[in-house]
Amino acid sequence: MAEKLIYDTDPGIDDALGLLLLAAAPEIELLAITVTHGNTSQDKCLRNALQLAELCGLTHVPIARGAQEPLVKELSVAEETHGDGGLGYAQLPEPKLQPVSEPAHDLIIRLIEENPGEVTLLCVGPMTNIAVALLKQPGIAKQIKRIVSMGGAIHYPGNVTPQAEYNVFCDPEAFEIVLNAGIDFTLVPLDVTYQCLFTTDHLSRINKAPAAIFDFIKESTRFYMEFHAAYQGIQGCAINDPLAAAILLAPDLVTYRDYFLAIELQSPTSKAKTIADHYGALKKQPNAKVAMEVEVEKFMDLFIERMNRLA
Ligand code: BDR
Ligand code: CA
Repeated sequence: MAEKLIYDTDPGIDDALGLLLLAAAPEIELLAITVTHGNTSQDKCLRNALQLAELCGLTHVPIARGAQEPLVKELSVAEETHGDGGLGYAQLPEPKLQPVSEPAHDLIIRLIEENPGEVTLLCVGPMTNIAVALLKQPGIAKQIKRIVSMGGAIHYPGNVTPQAEYNVFCDPEAFEIVLNAGIDFTLVPLDVTYQCLFTTDHLSRINKAPAAIFDFIKESTRFYMEFHAAYQGIQGCAINDPLAAAILLAPDLVTYRDYFLAIELQSPTSKAKTIADHYGALKKQPNAKVAMEVEVEKFMDLFIERMNRLA
């Protein structure tokens, strides 16, 4: 039976590629796309989600507007990484699709309550929507099947401050709430996603996808590659969010380690750092399963094969 999934996202170039992968996955029943602030403003992320759903034939999936800003800190956006509109150089037609009127956190609560124990949340942006849902209706924690989250950095440096990963950085308080809610939690951190560098060689193998899909991938990743080269000296672009989606289809792409994780909420220099208790010094039970190694080319093959399958 297909896995019931809510995609909580801030599109964003790699979020968009993650959605394309979900669109090419019969293993997944996508119940909703819930949009958060993050890579760009909530309004732009929402527009991007509507355009992307039209691009990849997901117009039957409800798309809900989520949080405009983080729980505590001020809003951040990453337009140097994802472009002014959030999708790099890609231009998509003005969407005809409309968001549903239900706010994202209420839609999340309702879908979980209607499908107790069956819904997986794939969270690839800041955790604000999920934290708001848990604060409003704490009982849903026991009814969520599991959360798979792209976020954090264990041994790898931060990609926004020396130690903080962007999704955690955008709303560290929300991330800490979700991490401590007692939900089965899998983290896909930069340690694995920054091994997965998509290059023009990979792009050239997406030769059976419809032209509109190919053009979107080409133009969005062209911007993303320029960012990685200019800011990080990296050739290719890290396709973080698709890796988190891919482990739903092929869990063996990564190897996991159980950790007790916490988020640093105070320090001015390391705020939003993901703290992993490597040696059990805090004597706490693990609260997360963390992807620590990845089979890079196996993942790239899967991604390319699924893109070529999109009709
Ligand atoms: C994460 O932050 C965003 O820029 C990406 O979409 C990804 O979810 C990587 O740190
Ligand atoms: Ca994202």
